[in-house]
Amino acid sequence: MHLADLTVYHEGRFARYGDAKVGLLTHGLQYGTGCFEGVRGFWNAREEELYLLSLVEHYERLQQSARILMIQLPLTTPELCDLTVELCLRNGFRGDCYLRPFAYKANEDIGVRLHDTRDAFGLVAIPFERYFDAERGLRVGISSWRRIDDTMAPARGKITGTYVNSALAKSEAVMNGFDEAVMLSAEGHVSEGSAENLFMVRRGVLYTPDPSQNILEGVTRRTIMTLAREELGLEVVERPIDRSELVVADEIFITGSAAGVQWIESVDHRPVGNGRRGPIASALIEHYDDAVRGRLPKYRGWLTPTYRGRPTAAAS
Ligand SMILES: Cc1ncc(COP(=O)(O)O)c(C=O)c1O
Repeated sequence: MHLADLTVYHEGRFARYGDAKVGLLTHGLQYGTGCFEGVRGFWNAREEELYLLSLVEHYERLQQSARILMIQLPLTTPELCDLTVELCLRNGFRGDCYLRPFAYKANEDIGVRLHDTRDAFGLVAIPFERYFDAERGLRVGISSWRRIDDTMAPARGKITGTYVNSALAKSEAVMNGFDEAVMLSAEGHVSEGSAENLFMVRRGVLYTPDPSQNILEGVTRRTIMTLAREELGLEVVERPIDRSELVVADEIFITGSAAGVQWIESVDHRPVGNGRRGPIASALIEHYDDAVRGRLPKYRGWLTPTYRGRPTAAAS
């Protein structure tokens, strides 16, 4: 599917991708004064159903990011959920997809600020398979870029401008031969990847940095903590993690809506554990895939079905 074929939602109406435009001086483009979400849709071929994962949680986080930026979203969370289903139906997806709701300061003038501005909202949905090659473990490097601190820009908001921090770290990592970066906080504790939260296994306990480590409070992070506790009976601890702990960890994996659950093969060229995918990462990768495609009845509540018995685009 080409971008030109997509139907999107922008400023209160559905439009073709190419017909939804923003002006060159748009504040959100010039100053990064916008916020967004990344939501996944997972296709269940047997049921011919597209399941949207954790829609409410994502829109609640968008509402929080918007509040930080003094943006008023035009719709409530239930209305945003309905709109998202409607957009997927209009695009007739029959495969995994990625949804990108976003809100931004839309005034076209000079002068950086948050007050006395005009807000706009848009939603784009695109077919999407994989963020990383899932067959292999990822090789990550500790970034020379520190994760933004909450005293500088809010890390718990998914704010457009702060993604310069992620982009700097990611490109540095890839250009140095790694797959992904792990950023430390200003204090030197492990924070997160460029677009993923991090988990570490040591002696059978699962650890992840607590929210005071300037992480984005990930939706997938919460999902994985639940699966680890409920399905594997693991103790899950949120606490600061030191850089050197990554080197001696038994397993490390990262989580995110786009990335899913990805195991880490090495950190700064040192193999994690025996350098192979560990049992806890393996079990969580499987449980996650089952849960998000509607194969675990216990977790159906996380999913919003799109077609709900309506004929899919191909069948109609
Ligand atoms: C900086 C950052 N951290 C963590 C995550 C993972 O969050 P989630 O699981 O909500 O996608 C993301 C992706 O949204 C991100 O951009």
